[in-house]
Amino acid sequence: MTALFLIILIIALTSSVYSQAPSSPIPLSSISNSFTRGNPSSDLTVDLWIDLGCSDCLAEWPLLKSVYETYEDTVKFNYHLFPLPYHQFAFLLAKSANCVDLHGDAGDVFNFFDIVYTNENQALIYNSVTANMTYNDVMTDIVSNFVTESSASLSADDFLGFMASDYDCESNTRYQFKNAALNQIYGTPMYTINGVTVTDGLSSMDDWTAMIDGLLQ
Ligand SMILES: *[C@@H]1O[C@H](CO)[C@@H](O)[C@H](O)[C@H]1NC(C)=O
Repeated sequence: MTALFLIILIIALTSSVYSQAPSSPIPLSSISNSFTRGNPSSDLTVDLWIDLGCSDCLAEWPLLKSVYETYEDTVKFNYHLFPLPYHQFAFLLAKSANCVDLHGDAGDVFNFFDIVYTNENQALIYNSVTANMTYNDVMTDIVSNFVTESSASLSADDFLGFMASDYDCESNTRYQFKNAALNQIYGTPMYTINGVTVTDGLSSMDDWTAMIDGLLQ
């Protein structure tokens, strides 16, 4: 009886150890290939997991910008793109952001986020609107305009050339997607505060202020 109990206990402990394995901590900031702004040496890091074709992210963006503007001197902000498969051109938008980051001027990628997260531009890339468009149609007719609005130094032709031939634009985007999957991100927007994922409770400026001010003390 005791032996049987021990065997069951060992099996239970072993399986719980195995089931914990996927949630072992994965270094976030240093290798995550995110777009970073704010105070790089802050003890407080906010990771934001966003999708550029996501209406929930569009709705949150003004608040997320205010949070950044309030805390840019005291908090490090990492933005990670997690293009969800049910947003038809989300990967294209994420890859374009990486292309702007690699080939535009410093900070242009944040202009790109601001331009993509407007109601009128999101309305151009809804699944229902782009249903009959090809990848190249969307890239040439829609996204290249977002890019030239975001970056003074990147022309539409250069952008299209880099998208076709610079594999770093593609591989950075793949890496960001895989990094999000490793961090158990399953939707957007999601937030990770000093490595702890927060799935809800951050829906107003008061929520963010209470959380950040509490951690900064
Ligand atoms: C796409 O094409 C199909 C088939 O021609 C048509 O029924 C549908 O209305 C089109 N959708 C859009 C958004 O243009």
